[in-house]
Amino acid sequence: MKRAIIVGASSGIGLEIAKLWIAKGWKIGVAARRADKLEALKSLAPQQVATQIIDVTQKEATENLHSLIAQLGGMDIFLLSSGIGYQNIELKEEVELQTIQTNAEGFVRMTTAAFNYFKQQGGGQLTVISSIAGTKGLGIAPAYSATKRFQNTYIDALEQLANMQHIPISFTDIRPGFVKTDLLNDGKHYPLLMSSTTVAQEIVKAIDRKKRIAIIDWRYRIIVFGWRLIPRFIWKRLPIKTS
Ligand SMILES: NC(=O)c1ccc[n+]([C@@H]2O[C@H](COP(=O)([O-])OP(=O)(O)OC[C@H]3O[C@@H](n4cnc5c(N)ncnc54)[C@H](OP(=O)(O)O)[C@@H]3O)[C@@H](O)[C@H]2O)c1
Repeated sequence: MKRAIIVGASSGIGLEIAKLWIAKGWKIGVAARRADKLEALKSLAPQQVATQIIDVTQKEATENLHSLIAQLGGMDIFLLSSGIGYQNIELKEEVELQTIQTNAEGFVRMTTAAFNYFKQQGGGQLTVISSIAGTKGLGIAPAYSATKRFQNTYIDALEQLANMQHIPISFTDIRPGFVKTDLLNDGKHYPLLMSSTTVAQEIVKAIDRKKRIAIIDWRYRIIVFGWRLIPRFIWKRLPIKTS
């Protein structure tokens, strides 16, 4: 039986993964800002679930994560699923900065806390949900795509640091394509939309197998492969947008 913590478990992909880990009989610690959603999740298996309000953009998030780990009696797996994302073709400064606060500053706050915990403990599994959006800069969502690229690079860096310091942490960077969750609930049409339950099943498998990078699903693996081959002078001319 594993002890796993999910930050960003009140809805969407994180919530579905929480349900799958409960079904496996694991003890899980779940965190996010919405207490009512966390309590509803706990009510599914009160003996297995601990809750903690965490806002990753706030300084006290680190202390709150440690409280959750203590409630659980330790942590074997850490999963960061918290994130926000908006299309922002008007390039509103506030939207860009909010995205950076959650997806970059909050991301660093939580992953450094988990890394340092595992360092002290002598190992663990550090897993995050980034996105295929980090593959290239996307004109319709500049801060979102840039922060997702930041997350990819940050995990590369932590992996190298763990090796330098001989800390046995395994890293999994999960990069889904479009998933039907609140994050995309903006009335726009998203192609190749996947369900959060299917995506959660693939993520659980990838974490079990300790995959280093998991692009979900196979169609997006092809798209990402293709995107990477496109030279900059062509990429800048591509009208990548949703209707
Ligand atoms: N949906 C997609 O198409 C897609 C594709 C690729 C990657 N992703 C990534 O998958 C992750 C999960 O997103 P989702 O699609 O499942 O969307 P979601 O349903 O909106 O879930 C986002 C989660 O993040 C939490 N969160 C947001 N801001 C937070 C904060 N400041 N502090 C703590 N928790 C916070 C939310 O909880 P509270 O609001 O209760 O705090 C919620 O639990 C995100 O990192 C997203 O970028 C999504």
